[in-house]
Amino acid sequence: MILEQYSAKAPFTSTHLLCLQEYTEDEILQILSLGLDLKKKLKEGTPHRLLGGKTLAMIFAKSSTRTRVSFEAGIFQLGGTALCLNAGDIQLGRGESVRDTAETISRMVDGIMIRTFAQQDVLELARYSRVPVINGLTDAYHPCQALGDMLTLYENKGAFRGLKLAFVGDGNNVCHSLMIACTKLGVSVSVAHPEGYAPDALVIEFARMNAKKTGCTVETGTDAVAAARNADAVYTDVWASMGREDEAKERRAFFSPYQVNETLMAAAKQDAVFMHCLPAHVGEEVTEGVMYGPQSVVFEEAENRLHAQKAVMAILMGKADGA
Ligand code: CP
Ligand code: NVA
Repeated sequence: MILEQYSAKAPFTSTHLLCLQEYTEDEILQILSLGLDLKKKLKEGTPHRLLGGKTLAMIFAKSSTRTRVSFEAGIFQLGGTALCLNAGDIQLGRGESVRDTAETISRMVDGIMIRTFAQQDVLELARYSRVPVINGLTDAYHPCQALGDMLTLYENKGAFRGLKLAFVGDGNNVCHSLMIACTKLGVSVSVAHPEGYAPDALVIEFARMNAKKTGCTVETGTDAVAAARNADAVYTDVWASMGREDEAKERRAFFSPYQVNETLMAAAKQDAVFMHCLPAHVGEEVTEGVMYGPQSVVFEEAENRLHAQKAVMAILMGKADGA
């Protein structure tokens, strides 16, 4: 499969981007294919104002660098404009309901991106919104990150099927969305986590269901070296996610054997890439040598957030042809 020449098998029917499990493989490939096309257009200076005059509202209840900059720059490059709404500055932060926020904002803008704590709030926002809602990270999922990561994996490996990605660390939001994205595209996933920090059972079930369809495998366990063995990509994330900072000290003891260092990378394939959603705590979940070494593609992942999310916005907010 050549992503650049991918042609859609069916019309794009999803209205929102909530979790990614709701997307078909075809829909994900449409997004990635358009993302590559938009990346090429941006680099060669070809205008691609697919969302001229449209507005994206961005609600942030947690900090962000990549998500904020990539959505804001992205909508601007597509000819639209963004409103950055810190949850604490709007009435949502004073207790106005998610429902009323959705009813109000969605009458004024063409799309809403939200970064918050509870996945339920994103679902509630989508339920009452008249415009597409995009999940920009919750405690449970980070679908936009997974899409940027799949683009990065494709650019580095030239395919999806037959690859193996090892996720080493916390079974968190990033891990969940990667498990879903990989298995939808036929990439085998092996997760190694400390005892008590496994991915959610429902997500493992989603991944197994997807893997059955696409012919890949899903493994979870506590052995980091076994997970990394023969992997084409080794991925990690912080040991204490946003909202769990108070557990950082306690977690450090459990997670330190799961550091991605030169020895662990040596267990993977020789040409394996190192991946991280960022921000990273260098010296904790990853050594400086791996983070800034020749196998690291972490800043490509950050850049690809822009291109993948432009495709998501163009398709959802403009109903652009993803093919
Ligand atoms: N990876 C990611 O979502 O980064 P930010 O928290 O900086 O948006
Ligand atoms: N798991 C991290 C990802 C940050 C982009 C967090 O939720 O803080």
